[in-house]
Amino acid sequence: MAIAIDGPAASGKSSTAKAVARELGFHHVDSGSLYRAATAARARAGGESSTWSEQSALDAAQIVSLASTEFGFEPMLDGQKADSEMRSESVTGNVSLVAKMPAVREWVNSIVRRAGSEYDVVVDGRDIGTVVFPDAALKIFLIADPAERARRRLRERSGGEPSAADVEEETRKILLRDEMDAKQSGQAPDAILIDTTRLKQEEQISQIAGLARAAHRQR
Ligand code: DC
Repeated sequence: MAIAIDGPAASGKSSTAKAVARELGFHHVDSGSLYRAATAARARAGGESSTWSEQSALDAAQIVSLASTEFGFEPMLDGQKADSEMRSESVTGNVSLVAKMPAVREWVNSIVRRAGSEYDVVVDGRDIGTVVFPDAALKIFLIADPAERARRRLRERSGGEPSAADVEEETRKILLRDEMDAKQSGQAPDAILIDTTRLKQEEQISQIAGLARAAHRQR
């Protein structure tokens, strides 16, 4: 069984998907982390990102492998954990470019679909309910006000309450990301739209876990 959680940048998809997977005993797959891993791998191979070809990105991605975690999988680079590299500013700045490459999308989709054929999965991304698992048992599309998404991201990074200027700057970056990812992102017509702007994270998790349990019972 697959549960798809899609939505824009910093909408809380991954943390929600991980918590829902934990509650249900499913595997969590963060498809964005695979695009990040491919981007970090391509960056390691060198050269200006404007010169990166699709084939060179696909070749570089061969150093990516998946390690099992308690509730799912995590991409490794050359067999090593590389989380901070995959979340770095430079990877974040180039990941949309790599995620636009059809061969890279095929590579990610085949990894995600293989996981879904072996396990019950909660997968988060941008096109999971539309392209990767169009028959998912439950599709959620998470949205939140851009300034609230910015605030959450900043709090997550620094732990403290961000200044208005920082929120403004981060909101600008988030809207730019949304724009760059727009072509690859979509809300499935049968997805349940949840606006999390005024929801606490626990409320969001319990709401989706409840929907997932109901979908599971119906199968
Ligand atoms: O969710 P994230 O910020 O880690 O995603 C990283 C990038 O990958 C972002 O540019 C959107 C892209 N992405 C995508 O195109 N399709 C997905 N299913 C998941 C992420």
